[in-house]
Amino acid sequence: MKRLGVNIDHVATLRNARKSFHPDPLLAAKRVIQLGANSVTIHLREDRRHINDKDLQKIAKDKKIPLNLEIAANIKMLKIALKNKPNFVCLVPEKREEVTTEGGLNLKKNKIKIKQIISKLKKNKIRTSLFINPNLQDVRLSKELNTDCIELHTGKLSELIKFNKKFTKELNKIKKSSKLGYQLGIEIHAGHGMDYKTTKILSKINYIKEFNIGHFIIGESVFNGLNKVIKKIKKLSNN
Ligand code: PXP
Repeated sequence: MKRLGVNIDHVATLRNARKSFHPDPLLAAKRVIQLGANSVTIHLREDRRHINDKDLQKIAKDKKIPLNLEIAANIKMLKIALKNKPNFVCLVPEKREEVTTEGGLNLKKNKIKIKQIISKLKKNKIRTSLFINPNLQDVRLSKELNTDCIELHTGKLSELIKFNKKFTKELNKIKKSSKLGYQLGIEIHAGHGMDYKTTKILSKINYIKEFNIGHFIIGESVFNGLNKVIKKIKKLSNN
């Protein structure tokens, strides 16, 4: 069975549009778990454009919510993570101007820093993940960095599928990267830009243990409700 992590950042985007309290990310976190998600993902961006520190504190405090915190790989964010003690941390690259996380981490450039952060998180019993592009070199580097998990960036694949372009080459990269990661003993996750169609296609890769999906689930719930959307994604993940 593949696990599902629901990213609720865009519940905060909607709330922030009115600089108010509704809809509340904590309530959304509780609800998606009740509805069958295995974890909740939030990305505390450096510019706090959606989830803020208070949201993180409140969600992390509720121990019934398995929490995956996405953060940039730097000491300031590490300290925030250690203070709030989420169950899982996924390190992601972050550029202030980007609309969303555009690519995987540059592991080669940030090797020493990432290794230190992973070690600190693991000492604090926090499961670690690295958001990487699907290529064999980055999978091997991830192993050297001693991470528990990697999350393969599916953004490119999702775009190709959405625009009815040829996607076999990109899908093969994800297949090969997940196989190598699995053989190296790393737990494999996948996420970014996923919808029903991408979920169904990626569900066939048995090496992948977890999907992390946000924008589509929150957006589609406007029409069909969280309950139906989560159920359908879970069904497609394990078909
Ligand atoms: N995984 C990671 C590491 C991400 O940074 C994001 C976006 O914040 C997602 C998954 C979810 O992407 P989407 O919102 O496009 O489903």
